[in-house]
Amino acid sequence: MRLFKQLVGVFAVLGIAFAALSLFTFDIAKIDWVTFMEIQPSYRPMESPLAVPARSIPVDGPLSIPNMGAPENPVPADETSIARGAQLFAIHCQMCHGETGVGNGTIAGNLVNKPANLTLDVTQSKSDGSLFLTISNGVLGRMPPLNENLTVRDRWDLVNFIRTLAAAK
Ligand code: HEC
Repeated sequence: MRLFKQLVGVFAVLGIAFAALSLFTFDIAKIDWVTFMEIQPSYRPMESPLAVPARSIPVDGPLSIPNMGAPENPVPADETSIARGAQLFAIHCQMCHGETGVGNGTIAGNLVNKPANLTLDVTQSKSDGSLFLTISNGVLGRMPPLNENLTVRDRWDLVNFIRTLAAAK
C-alpha cells in the first residue's frame, strides 16, 4: 500500500511537470528564447533591404551601368515583340499615356504633371536605351518606376511598341 501511494505521488509530480511544459509547446506561455539563428545579417520583413554590394551585376546581365550610357536594345522589333508591347502598354501605361500614347489616359486629367505625348519627336528622337531607362526608373514625382513590375524583356517590348505609336499618329 505504501509503495502504491509512492507511485501515485511520483506520477502526480511527473504529470504536473509534463502539463506545465506542454504550456510552452502550445504557445500558451510564450517565452522569446534566444536562438543563435536570430543573430545573422539577414533583414526582416518591412526592414529596408541591404545595399547592393559595389560592382555587382544583376543576374540577367548588366542593364545599365552608371556612367556607361544607355543600353542597346537586344530585342528585335518583330511582330511578337510589338504585340507583347501593346498588351503590356494597355495594362501598365494606357491609364496615363492613353490608348494611342498622346497622353490622354483616363487618369491623366487628375495628374498635376501631365503624361508625355509619346508620339511626338521629343520622345521618338530619343534612343531605345533612353526610353528603356525612363520605363525602368520612372520620372521622379511624375511617372512611377516600372522595373519591379516588368521584366527586362517586357520593357524592351514596350520600347518597340512605343516606336509604332509615331507611325500611327
Ligand atoms: C502615373 C502615370 C504614368 C504611368 C502609369 C506611366 N507613365 Fe510614362 N510618363 C508619365 C508622365 C507624367 C511623364 C512625363 C514626365 C516628365 O514630365 O518628364 C511620363 C514620361 C514617359 C516617357 C518619357 C518621354 C520622354 O520624352 O522622355 C516615356 C518613354 C514613358 N513615359 C513611357 C511609359 C511607359 C512605357 C509606361 C508603361 C510601362 C508608362 N510610361 C507609364 C506618367 C506615367
